[in-house]
Amino acid sequence: MKKIIIGNWKMNPETAKEAQGVFSDVALGVKGFRKTSVVICAPSVFLEAMNALKIKGVSLGAENCFFGDVGPYTGEISAVQLKNIGVKYVILGHSERRALGEDNELISKKIKSAISAGLKVVLCVGETSRDEAGEYLSFLHDELVESLSKIKKVDLKNLIIAYEPIWAVGKNAPRSATPEDVHQATLLLRKILVEMFGRESGLGVPVIYGGSVNTKNALEMITLGGVDGLLAGRESLDSDKFVEIARIANTV
Ligand code: PGA
Repeated sequence: MKKIIIGNWKMNPETAKEAQGVFSDVALGVKGFRKTSVVICAPSVFLEAMNALKIKGVSLGAENCFFGDVGPYTGEISAVQLKNIGVKYVILGHSERRALGEDNELISKKIKSAISAGLKVVLCVGETSRDEAGEYLSFLHDELVESLSKIKKVDLKNLIIAYEPIWAVGKNAPRSATPEDVHQATLLLRKILVEMFGRESGLGVPVIYGGSVNTKNALEMITLGGVDGLLAGRESLDSDKFVEIARIANTV
């Protein structure tokens, strides 16, 4: 399986010109990386301008979408609309969206719509904090099972799971995750996928890690953490750093 390196720009940058600049720099930097798929998820307002560059070798992703194809949902953007401007991936269930009130039920509807529209979904799951008794493991279980409640086996080829423990995301994160933390949680996620969809299909779903990914921890997260790729936030805004993360993944 190719490694998957995804950048999540969040609410950055300020202009389409800057977005195009970083996107082109990344594309140039990752040229010839054969063992890695590179994706940049950007604010929807920039996606058309980025797609217009006709860049090959880096796929375009959105950071969110709504369910349904068209309809009376003021301010929302559908997966079909994204697909029609050249978008290939969409992040759903990011903790920053969940913090704004999105629950597993809503996320499950979005996932179904996005996959029906032909997008690849990057579903984020992750606990707020860890506890000695291991309660967070059942939280993770429920989050994954409920978010995937509308998904069938055939949909799995368009699904990527990103384990993003909330305590390790962002510049104010209380601590960074260790590869052991990542390994333990992703083993659980893979086990749940196998329980839900059977061994072959379940193990075919890429499980990646996100939360303060950088050029220093990328290698050990992949090798010791045992993940199929990485989702980088802050570091993806700097094309040199993001390309370096992709380069590291490409050597594994
Ligand atoms: P971070 O964000 O790399 O800045 O911690 C990751 C994410 O939220 O996807």
